[in-house]
Amino acid sequence: MLRTFYKLYLTLIASILLAVFVVVPGMQYMLIPRLTPSDANDLRSTMYILRDMLSVQDEAKREKALDEVQPTLTMVRFDLLDRSSVVLTDDQQRRLDLGYAVDIDTPGTILLAIPPSHQLLRTRDLQAPGASSLFRVVAWTVVVAMLLGGLFFWLRSHWRDLEILREAAQRFGDGQLHVRSGLSARSSVAPLATRFDSMASRIQTLVSTQSEMINAISHELRTPIARFGFALALLKSARDEGERRRHIAAMSDDMAELDQLVSELLSYGALGQPGRDPEYCQVDIAEFIDSVIGSLALEMEARDIHCRVTILPTGAMAPIDPKRSARALINIVRNAMRYGRSQINITVTMTGEMLVIHVDDDGIGVPEADRKSIFEPFHRLDRSRDRSTGGFGLGLAIVRRAITSQGGSVEVDDSPTGGARFTLRLPVSTDVESTANTKAK
Ligand SMILES: Nc1ncnc2c1ncn2[C@@H]1O[C@H](COP(=O)(O)OP(=O)(O)OP(=O)(O)O)[C@@H](O)[C@H]1O
Ligand SMILES: [Mg+2]
Repeated sequence: MLRTFYKLYLTLIASILLAVFVVVPGMQYMLIPRLTPSDANDLRSTMYILRDMLSVQDEAKREKALDEVQPTLTMVRFDLLDRSSVVLTDDQQRRLDLGYAVDIDTPGTILLAIPPSHQLLRTRDLQAPGASSLFRVVAWTVVVAMLLGGLFFWLRSHWRDLEILREAAQRFGDGQLHVRSGLSARSSVAPLATRFDSMASRIQTLVSTQSEMINAISHELRTPIARFGFALALLKSARDEGERRRHIAAMSDDMAELDQLVSELLSYGALGQPGRDPEYCQVDIAEFIDSVIGSLALEMEARDIHCRVTILPTGAMAPIDPKRSARALINIVRNAMRYGRSQINITVTMTGEMLVIHVDDDGIGVPEADRKSIFEPFHRLDRSRDRSTGGFGLGLAIVRRAITSQGGSVEVDDSPTGGARFTLRLPVSTDVESTANTKAK
């Protein structure tokens, strides 16, 4: 911003200097009365003629006679004065007596004696060639034009960059989401352009994520709906009660799957909704982990999965959103049950600033190349496409939103027990607590 004003100052100073040192001296040159030798000769001839004309007049009538001829003379005006009122050198006196026109010190002033009297004819108000009022108007117009020209020069670059930005905004608004301003960092509107470009990138990403989501949702809905339609058709043509019951059971499975998909989608959407902040409160970490494991205990027992929990330090309290954190941990432990074999280890540690939860399993693990993408919605690895093991691929996307909304992070690694290690990190410093309290209000 400051650079913009420096530029303006420099441009104005340059214009003013140009006007002061070039235009004004030029005007003065044009305006100051100067007589060329031939002008002076013409003037003298005119004066001799006037002298001859006036010398035959009565002294009292000379003024009137002079006034009568005055309008015909354009470059100069004449007047009459008494010789005693002018200070003259001896030489000037002598030359006047001899009947010569005499130049005196005041520029452009010539005197001529009118015999037989003490009267002198004097040039007065000698007009310079550029002294007309039209010339003055033109000269001042040039000065103002130079200042305006300087201003225009300064404004031009801003105007051009704003025009580029306006055009980019218009094209973006017309749906060309790839358009960016492309202005350099040296442009005077660079801060605005950078904001526009980053806003455009965010909107483009959002729009493409939304349309990818819509595609994925449609794709996920299609399979159970198609199965449902098929079962319905078979139900219509069923011949006995047993067959009918089988089709109805298949249809209710499909409905349950649809219901689960919709409720997972709602959870995912709710976590991303602006204005829905986490609700923090002080949580006893051991109790929190206990309740999560408790909610999955029956499933674990049914699958013969053993879970070991280690919490350091015991009796630790932390300011977290219990609902969001429980949702995240349940999804991760469920994955460990689904993709692991028989052992799950949950290790909780807490430093002054961070609550860290590791969930280790002894399954197939997650290949390094997929460790980022599995957190994207509907992303499942090929080996879990089978419905018997894989779900919709929304579980980890929900985990990421639930944890990052609390300022935390989630990542996957190799586990020392052979499978995958999911690590949740939640900030628990007093800063977070105070932010949490403010947010809770
Ligand atoms: N503990 C794990 N071990 C190995 N692979 C895993 C593990 N957890 C997740 N994955 C892989 O990451 C993918 C995404 O997991 P996510 O929880 O998002 O979806 P899902 O379990 O397939 O379905 P959902 O959780 O929606 O029912 C899984 O399909 C699976 O391939
Ligand atoms: Mg899952």
